[in-house]
Amino acid sequence: MSAVNVEPVSSTGPVLETTRLILRVPRAEDFDRYAELFADESATRYIGGPLVRAAAWRRFLQMPGAWTVQGFAMFSVIDKASGRWLGQAGPWKPEGWPGNEIGWSFHPDTWGCGYATEAAHAAIDWAFATLRWDEVIHCIDPENTASQRLAQRLGSRKRGPGRLPPPHQDAPIEIWTQSREDWLAQRASHTASA
Ligand SMILES: CC(C)(COP(=O)(O)OP(=O)(O)OC[C@H]1O[C@@H](n2cnc3c(N)ncnc32)[C@H](O)[C@@H]1OP(=O)(O)O)[C@@H](O)C(=O)NCCC(=O)NCCS
Repeated sequence: MSAVNVEPVSSTGPVLETTRLILRVPRAEDFDRYAELFADESATRYIGGPLVRAAAWRRFLQMPGAWTVQGFAMFSVIDKASGRWLGQAGPWKPEGWPGNEIGWSFHPDTWGCGYATEAAHAAIDWAFATLRWDEVIHCIDPENTASQRLAQRLGSRKRGPGRLPPPHQDAPIEIWTQSREDWLAQRASHTASA
């Protein structure tokens, strides 16, 4: 599950490779499946609700925009075997955000396969190594049990209630977190026991 940077950081951004996945900067060809995810009632329950395709396109553009302007953003997560867009995962920290987030959202036809766990592992490795963050957070709705399970699987712990900046200030979220030291210690103990 360890991430290998298979291309140098460039204007198109890094490309990470894991056992089953490629993580790279979003491209226009990812949009159809992105729009399906954001049209889905249950998939968007805790991330602002469904979007019509034109609104999904504007939201889609945030990530490549953030890659260009800030040098980091969530990656598109691609199934190596089929080339299928599975979801997005990675660093996210717009202005006013309550910390250095590693976030995730996956197409509903991919759930239950461990893809989000595998991608988040690679993205956290990358964020600690490249962005030199001291800790990562995940902003999760108290009712979003699938996302909480994922945070737990990654070794993060619930810190308590948090607040997003306007216009999301009324979204109920809890902050899950772990430090760089805890992440590296966990990685080292897994490597030692492998
Ligand atoms: C949050 C979300 C990404 C979690 O997806 P997920 O499919 O549960 O997570 P994974 O891809 O890591 O799969 C883990 C599940 O697959 C199972 N699994 C199967 N094969 C696996 C493997 N090789 N490795 C790890 N887990 C595997 C696990 O047991 C786990 O199931 P469980 O949670 O019932 O125990 C997904 O629910 C989602 O995109 N939701 C909509 C958007 C959203 O709410 N985003 C989060 C905002 S905070």
